[in-house]
Amino acid sequence: MSERLEDIAVKMVADGKGLLAADESTATIKKRFDTIGLASTEESRRDYREMLFRSDDAMKKYISGAILYEETLFQKAVDGTPLVDIIRAAGGIPGIKVDTGAKPMAGFPGETVTEGLDGLADRLAKYYDAGARFAKWRGVIAVSDKLPTFGSVKANAHALARYAALCQQAKIVPIVEPEVLMDGEPGTHDLARSEEVTRWTLQIVFQELAEARINLEGMILKPSMVIDGKKVRKASVEQVAEYTVKVLKETVPSAVPGIAFLSGGQTPEEATAHLSAINGYDLPWHVTFSYGRALQDASLKAWGGKAENVAAGQRAFAHRAEMNYLAAKGSWTKDSEKAA
Ligand code: 13P
Repeated sequence: MSERLEDIAVKMVADGKGLLAADESTATIKKRFDTIGLASTEESRRDYREMLFRSDDAMKKYISGAILYEETLFQKAVDGTPLVDIIRAAGGIPGIKVDTGAKPMAGFPGETVTEGLDGLADRLAKYYDAGARFAKWRGVIAVSDKLPTFGSVKANAHALARYAALCQQAKIVPIVEPEVLMDGEPGTHDLARSEEVTRWTLQIVFQELAEARINLEGMILKPSMVIDGKKVRKASVEQVAEYTVKVLKETVPSAVPGIAFLSGGQTPEEATAHLSAINGYDLPWHVTFSYGRALQDASLKAWGGKAENVAAGQRAFAHRAEMNYLAAKGSWTKDSEKAA
């Protein structure tokens, strides 16, 4: 495979394929496992992710790559095969989450800034050697009547840009993820407020990327959709698509090869419906999914931490991945759910 950043970036988002975000930190995966009553251990985390990556048919047809947490990048399957080799054998690109989390931002109550820049150049070299060809960094933007502040958006955008520069220097494609929260507190904002905050955030992010001399053709944007807060959620599929497309067209240069959305707390079917409606528009980028919860939730439940349910977990994963593949081509309908 070509090692040019531009070629890797296109491969991550083209042909209806999307990314499996399986990069939950140890604290986050514990919360997910709690929902099925499973203890989070190195072994159970391995078993779960091995189950997903060995969904061979789905991985080959619908998934371009998987975002991993550091532990997974260096982990081996039960039979000793490195998990990255299983991903690569299915034609997928291994990627790595490199931020160390959103931490309370000093002087900015209710807001966070994402950390992880110190020593990042050295870590990236290690991740490249382990097979990672793209990385992810998530900045988190809280929404209320008063938030976000300019200071917090600017600090998060600056960190995203510094991270992106270090990635490109290390021949790793940066996924730039500024998440405008739909499921944060108070979670009561309407669509117009989401539009305003998302537009503002993306404007500042692309300003910082330009100042950091980022090669836009060698990166992927992972934004949130323009959507009203989780506690209100009444905007229609058509409205979410219309507002999202409007804001992205106003802020994202066409030199960026691809946009891969996060699901952010949407239900799996909502995330699929929105992606398909967005792809009903004529867009200058490849637009696909990089879902965590929306791709995994049904699979996690069907698996339930039991070896005898591996096939059921893989079937659930394959179904959701196929639905999102159709959505990335703009051809999903409610009937697609039944047909599968
Ligand atoms: P969700 O799709 O569950 O929001 O996760 C995507 C992700 O990678 C968040 O950083």
